[in-house]
Amino acid sequence: MAFAISALAGTAATGQSDFQPSPSVRQYAPRLAEIMSAAQLQHLKLWFAGKSKNWELAAYELRQLTDSLAQAAVFYPGIPVSNVTTMEKPLLAIADAIEMRDVRKFAASMRGLTDGCNACHTSLERSFIAIGVPTDQQPTANQIFAPMGKAQKK
Ligand code: HEC
Repeated sequence: MAFAISALAGTAATGQSDFQPSPSVRQYAPRLAEIMSAAQLQHLKLWFAGKSKNWELAAYELRQLTDSLAQAAVFYPGIPVSNVTTMEKPLLAIADAIEMRDVRKFAASMRGLTDGCNACHTSLERSFIAIGVPTDQQPTANQIFAPMGKAQKK
């Protein structure tokens, strides 16, 4: 057991094999999964802030989420740039909806953004990480745990 754990720890220390941090940040970079876990929480908070018409909080969470995605792209050059730039459109649509205080446009743009999360996961062989619009306020209520194709998408 101790051997297995130290072998795993070795992997963690050098980063996941297919996503290496950029050499300039290697020493300090958070693991990609950590950045993504933050993005998951920001996505969930953004949703409930918008649904609750707390536009100030929504704008704040949108900024945090945008920064997380930008950080992933800068730190992890293995992620294709185009996968990140396609997120721009839904992010801007959400910013518009917040500006206009438009709940319907907000919900529609959030769905567009969520499709973008999944498009990138799928293109990087992570389709098993399926994001949905949050179903409740539990921290992971925006993740679909059923295998692909069996999920009840909301
Ligand atoms: C540009 C590509 C890209 C985009 C856009 C993207 N992700 Fe990810 N995400 C990844 C990759 C790659 C991984 C797997 C990381 C690994 O294998 O170490 C991942 C992993 C995750 C995980 C798993 C974390 C864990 O360890 O449990 C979650 C949750 C996640 N992403 C949420 C999101 C959400 C929410 C969005 C949209 C707001 C999003 N991602 C957008 C590339 C992306």
